[in-house]
Amino acid sequence: MNILHISAECFPIAKVGGLADVVGALPKYQKEIGTTSNVVMPFYNNKFTKKNSFDKIHENFIALGHNYYNFKVLKLKDNDLGYDIFFIDIPDLTHKEYVYSNDDTNRFLAFQIATLDWILSIDNKPDILHVHDHHTGLIPFMVSQCHKYIALKDTPTILTIHNAQYQGWFSHNKVNLIPPFDFTKVGLLDWDGSINPLAAAIKCAWKVTTVSPSYMDELKNNANGLEALLRHESKKCIGILNGIDTDVWNTNTDNRLIENYTIENAQKGKLTNKKWLCDKYNLDIDKPLFAFIGRLVGEKGADLFPEIFTRALANNNISIFLLGSGHKETEEKLNKIPKNNFNTFIGYDEKLAHIIYAAADFLLMPSRVEPCGLNQMYSLRYGTVPVVNAIGGLKDTIVDIKDQNGFGICHKGVTVSNVTNAILKATDFYKDKQRFNNNIQNIMQIDHSWSNSAKEYVNLYNSLKN
Ligand code: GLC
Repeated sequence: MNILHISAECFPIAKVGGLADVVGALPKYQKEIGTTSNVVMPFYNNKFTKKNSFDKIHENFIALGHNYYNFKVLKLKDNDLGYDIFFIDIPDLTHKEYVYSNDDTNRFLAFQIATLDWILSIDNKPDILHVHDHHTGLIPFMVSQCHKYIALKDTPTILTIHNAQYQGWFSHNKVNLIPPFDFTKVGLLDWDGSINPLAAAIKCAWKVTTVSPSYMDELKNNANGLEALLRHESKKCIGILNGIDTDVWNTNTDNRLIENYTIENAQKGKLTNKKWLCDKYNLDIDKPLFAFIGRLVGEKGADLFPEIFTRALANNNISIFLLGSGHKETEEKLNKIPKNNFNTFIGYDEKLAHIIYAAADFLLMPSRVEPCGLNQMYSLRYGTVPVVNAIGGLKDTIVDIKDQNGFGICHKGVTVSNVTNAILKATDFYKDKQRFNNNIQNIMQIDHSWSNSAKEYVNLYNSLKN
């Protein structure tokens, strides 16, 4: 079976969030269990594309309303990713350094049209089109409704929702950018008076998955306006928990770390990484270190960080380190917190992120919404205890230490006092040295590799081909 993943992001080529990690790993693990899985994404003008070479395998032009654009399909050369990766290169539209910008409607629509035009031209067509999030959400509609893609109408489409907060809305004034279709079907594109690519994909895809089972349930009551639609389509929806790429996230081989370690010598290895981080960022190595890695946005609870950190630093004997960027107001407030056992790196740095997972004692994830969350799984694998709000994928992966088999710290609801209480509970846990150290060994052994989830996806594909 031949699967094509269609996505705006894919690690290591272009990453903004967890979407890239999933699209970068899932095809490799699907291939291991016998499917042919490849990826197609836009060709950005970024570090990765500047450093690598590509073969041109197709060239044509697309119509976007009244405008015509040349495009090429490129294939990555000397590829050791474990699957093929194709790029849609539309110089006038995709050649940006950043993945997202303010002309995304036209850019991603052109990307989707060029992808389908290219697929029409190839002999060995994919058996399944697997689209990810709203950026590729018009594909299920176009395949089933646009006259020019009639040859693809029996090709099953799957939508994976990584985050339903963003839906790609645009005005009906732009409907002529979509290739011609029977206009009585325009309702399939609409939600609440706008063209809504995520809603269109939920309506038109053969199956819809979310990246954890709990998130699937939560979306029926909280989906940024799409609740009723998800309830209505619930029969074709299923939650499949993400995995992590255990080749990349391996403490024994991760060359970004200051010192590698295994389950057996984890205390020592973690301490060397902690020492490096504490020396560099002026933190006290003897205090439990709490870290946050991620975007500074409301979904992640980041607006409360200035107050949470100020209180937690005043009341507990701890240190805190944050890596991330986002809302300017939050960044400014964080910059004002005295650098006394507290420090930040405002921006993103993949190497530093890996070191933090190894160095920290606790990882904070007070997310208000967390479709799956990968950071808590990276953190477990690196022997760092997650402190999480129990929702979505966090609820599905972390068990509180009050349970017999518990290994993390969970709170219910995101308020300053809930999170500071959780930090207090974590600090007490840290003091119980023997239990804390045993727990490091335990959490490093929890299996969140892709093997199980990759199989679930393949079962889903099979159910559509029979
Ligand atoms: C999005 C979600 C995150 C999820 C990731 C990968 O970034 O916010 O929870 O883990 O996608 O599916």
